[in-house]
Amino acid sequence: MTRRLEGKVAIVTGASRGIGAAIAAAMVREGAQVVLAARKIEPLRAKAEEIGPGAHAIACHTGRDDAVDDLFAATFERLGKVDVLVNNAATNPYFGPLMNVEWSAWRKTFEVNLEGYFRCARAAARHLLGRRAPGSIVNVTSVLGQMAAPLQGVYGMTKAGVISLTQTLAAELGPSGIRVNAIAPGLIETRFSQALTSNPKLVASIEERTTLRRIGRPEDVAGAALFLASDESSYVNGQTLAVDGGWTTT
Ligand SMILES: NC(=O)c1ccc[n+]([C@@H]2O[C@H](COP(=O)([O-])OP(=O)(O)OC[C@H]3O[C@@H](n4cnc5c(N)ncnc54)[C@H](OP(=O)(O)O)[C@@H]3O)[C@@H](O)[C@H]2O)c1
Repeated sequence: MTRRLEGKVAIVTGASRGIGAAIAAAMVREGAQVVLAARKIEPLRAKAEEIGPGAHAIACHTGRDDAVDDLFAATFERLGKVDVLVNNAATNPYFGPLMNVEWSAWRKTFEVNLEGYFRCARAAARHLLGRRAPGSIVNVTSVLGQMAAPLQGVYGMTKAGVISLTQTLAAELGPSGIRVNAIAPGLIETRFSQALTSNPKLVASIEERTTLRRIGRPEDVAGAALFLASDESSYVNGQTLAVDGGWTTT
């Protein structure tokens, strides 16, 4: 059986837990060398050890220029190249009406969720262009980037921005063989969504609207990420794939 990412090097941001960890584990199973990035090194190391050979832990705050430069430099030093980037690290510090948001929370959200994604995408693309190599960039956005996001407005704006970023980078980098696509998860059970998934009434109402009648697991998103990272999606570019159990179809 051929492994879909044999010989590839991937960076997955936000990979110490949740969706990013599931994506990193799936990519290692498919033969890739995978750099797991997040701010705290200890949980990252523990996750890399759990995943096994092929998983590498490198600490990085994706909201910071120098930290992203260091992440790519350390990856090149350790693994020689990057073929796949999964932008997944995001934050959502403010839950409440948009009218009441503090600028500090606004800036933090944009800094990590949008600037951080662009910073990493640009570093990966510059490297791929320099090597004249094909590559795949996968941006984890959200269904909340495709509709109104009451009480999560700033987060929703950054996720909408990620969809636009995906389309523009896909258009500009596609001629060089670099594909850029996005995944828009619905509600997935992780620490990030704990405030929502710990509310049984809310979960029941989401399951009712979800045609598969359940909320998602990180592994559900990993399958989509593997598809978009690998040559199986060789003619897919600039797309946003909803991984939401059908929630946005009803
Ligand atoms: N869970 C959902 O229902 C859901 C739905 C739609 C979309 N999403 C999206 O899916 C992605 C992953 O979410 P998740 O639910 O898996 O979250 P999670 O379980 O809370 O994991 C978040 C990961 O990101 C890292 N991280 C946070 N801020 C970072 C920063 N500034 N720099 C680098 N790493 C950072 C965290 O580690 P450190 O704290 O150590 O940095 C952790 O590894 C996000 O883009 C989120 O918007 C989630």
